[in-house]
Amino acid sequence: MFYRIMRSFLFMFNPEKAHNLSLKQLKLTHGTILDLFYRQKVQQRPVEVMGLTFPNSLGLAAGLDKDGECIDAFGAMGFGHIEVGTVTPVAQPGNALPRLFRVLESEGIINRMGFNNRGVDNLIANIKESDFEGVIGINIGKNFSTPVEEGKNDYLLCMDKVYPYAGYIAVNISSPNTPGLRSLQYGEALDDLLDALKTRQTELQEKYNKYVPIALKVAPDLSDEEIAAIALSLLKYNIDGLIATNTTLDREIIKGMSHAGEAGGLSGRPLQSKSTLVIAKFAAHLKGQIPIIGVGGIDGVIAAKEKIDAGASLVQIYSGFIYHGPQLVKQIVNNI
Ligand SMILES: Cc1cc2nc3c(=O)[nH]c(=O)nc-3n(C[C@H](O)[C@H](O)[C@H](O)COP(=O)(O)O)c2cc1C
Repeated sequence: MFYRIMRSFLFMFNPEKAHNLSLKQLKLTHGTILDLFYRQKVQQRPVEVMGLTFPNSLGLAAGLDKDGECIDAFGAMGFGHIEVGTVTPVAQPGNALPRLFRVLESEGIINRMGFNNRGVDNLIANIKESDFEGVIGINIGKNFSTPVEEGKNDYLLCMDKVYPYAGYIAVNISSPNTPGLRSLQYGEALDDLLDALKTRQTELQEKYNKYVPIALKVAPDLSDEEIAAIALSLLKYNIDGLIATNTTLDREIIKGMSHAGEAGGLSGRPLQSKSTLVIAKFAAHLKGQIPIIGVGGIDGVIAAKEKIDAGASLVQIYSGFIYHGPQLVKQIVNNI
């Protein structure tokens, strides 16, 4: 009820302004009496995934709290894990505004943010201040100015820095808003990246005496052959997890709706079945050997269950949270 009123207020602003306002409010109110508007008790439903114990199966997807400014506030809503980032080695402004659009008719969002973030060092400083008892995933990417052929170095640089502070590390090669990034999902480029990440993981494990799993985040716009090839590479390099999926470039399902023509990645309800299908296809190849984190259009308990039925061990939300607020967290956690 409270979120419905809040949403009517926030939706009067343009989406990015509403986003910034909300994060600011969360940061200001957390730890004060005012956090009673979003603090909620959820059931403890621990699950073991990638060798980690998650308090429950639901997480906040990457991109909402890119700089890890509100980890404890999101924790108070009941999320079992929070994926911060995508963060890049150096701070960058992202793409020109406007770059975020609501597709109200279908509870969708189109974004072409372009990894706007304050850089990896700032993120780490924020994580150090957090008391969150769930799992923090750190999603890493490459700077816009780094050529794709040298992208690997950015991932390794971020990995070196975040390793001691991460529950798991998510490697984002699937954002449609950084030119060329998605090419890292294929063939030799993928194998080369996974090989390097895995080698570095072993080195860092020795250095810190701590094993931090690596999960690869993929796009939903993949052919059956591409899915088979990626699954094979994940198995070959013993990658710890798969996050499926990022946003889609496909606009078919929202044809004629508001902002359908905007460039960027589409998320939310219009992405739901597409990402579930991709999860099911990966699950058929991975055969339970590598766990899947399912994300894409989850707007309620049924959608979350469908992701789990398709083969996901954990689920995440972003757009559904924008449209439904903290009550969605409670609903999902208590019913899956
Ligand atoms: C505004 C916005 C920004 C996002 N930024 C990132 C990001 O920085 N890194 C990333 O891996 N995914 C990012 N995503 C993708 C989400 O994490 C998620 O994979 C996608 O939105 C599908 O989930 P949903 O339908 O629940 O939103 C972003 C999504 C949105 C809507």
